[in-house]
Amino acid sequence: MKKVSYKELGLVNTRKMFAKAVKGGYAIPAFNFNTMEQMQAIVQAAVETKSPVIMQVSKGARKYANPTILRYMAQGAVEYAKELGCKKPQIVLHLDHGDSFETCKSCIDMGFSSVMIDGSSLPFKDNIKLTKKVVAYAHKFDVTVEAELGVLAGVEDEVAAEESHYTKPEEVIEFATKTGCDSLAISIGTSHGAYKFKPEQCTRDKKTGKLIPPPLAFDVLKAIEKKLPGFPIVLHGSSSVPQDEVDTINKFGGKLPDAVGIPEEQLRKAAKSAVCKINIDSDSRLAMTAAVRKYFAENPGHFDPRQYLGPARESMKKMYIHKIVKVLGSNNKL
Ligand code: G3H
Ligand code: 13P
Ligand code: ZN
Repeated sequence: MKKVSYKELGLVNTRKMFAKAVKGGYAIPAFNFNTMEQMQAIVQAAVETKSPVIMQVSKGARKYANPTILRYMAQGAVEYAKELGCKKPQIVLHLDHGDSFETCKSCIDMGFSSVMIDGSSLPFKDNIKLTKKVVAYAHKFDVTVEAELGVLAGVEDEVAAEESHYTKPEEVIEFATKTGCDSLAISIGTSHGAYKFKPEQCTRDKKTGKLIPPPLAFDVLKAIEKKLPGFPIVLHGSSSVPQDEVDTINKFGGKLPDAVGIPEEQLRKAAKSAVCKINIDSDSRLAMTAAVRKYFAENPGHFDPRQYLGPARESMKKMYIHKIVKVLGSNNKL
């Protein structure tokens, strides 16, 4: 594919967006996408709420959908937003959990406006070295770079961790200064997927039988903010795993016992701090799956994908709007 700058595609990087969000006490939504329906729902939600948005692509998404197609979809997203009436869309195309310099370079060369280099599983010094290399290349093209320090529990694409290792506040100044990264993903108790906590880490609501998760480590976040005042902080693994979606999935043949996420009031609290990017993927998967399962249970004779993907898209859009307006507070910020 011919080299192209994201600027020619109408995309923006995260620099100004993050500075505004940190100052304004809100967070930018970072929604993962793999399919056209997710892309459409994200753009519709962002335009209707007048919100900036980060559309992010994982290595898995690139493998599933094809990197070139996803890049053109992001370019299409900008044009679609304009068609929906947004004069100046603020859309970032971001690589989620980049695992090597080569993957980051390939994304930068094909029009991404932001990349994450996830060196969180590496020893501190190697993480710095790799991140610095990506930053040097990315900044030549005014592409912003997210780095990660501390390890989330669960599976981070290829980065597997048995348990969560919170980010060490005493390491962040050296890391940010030596790498020159533009934002930093930290570990304060969130994790990827729909099972963020084991039942033994939670208490159980006696009435509903639902798990109540432990709080995030806000003391660690506070200590990091103190070390790096105003520096953009990112939270991965921030789906709240809505229990109505889980219940719908389970009612219509699914099996997600004890799926549990991060309570929205904790994300609201985080969004008011230096946390200016909140990553949400699983909630979109849950909304889509719940809508499709319900649709098939109620319409067993239907087989046109538009019939069941239409309601799935609507459901995801509703969820994205809810996150933007009620959790992250990024509405009316264009
Ligand atoms: O951080 C993980 C994201 O949810 C992407 O997941 O690697 O299955 O696309 P994926
Ligand atoms: P969730 O699995 O909580 O949606 O996290 C997504 C994420 O962090 C993508 O990088
Ligand atoms: Zn992540």
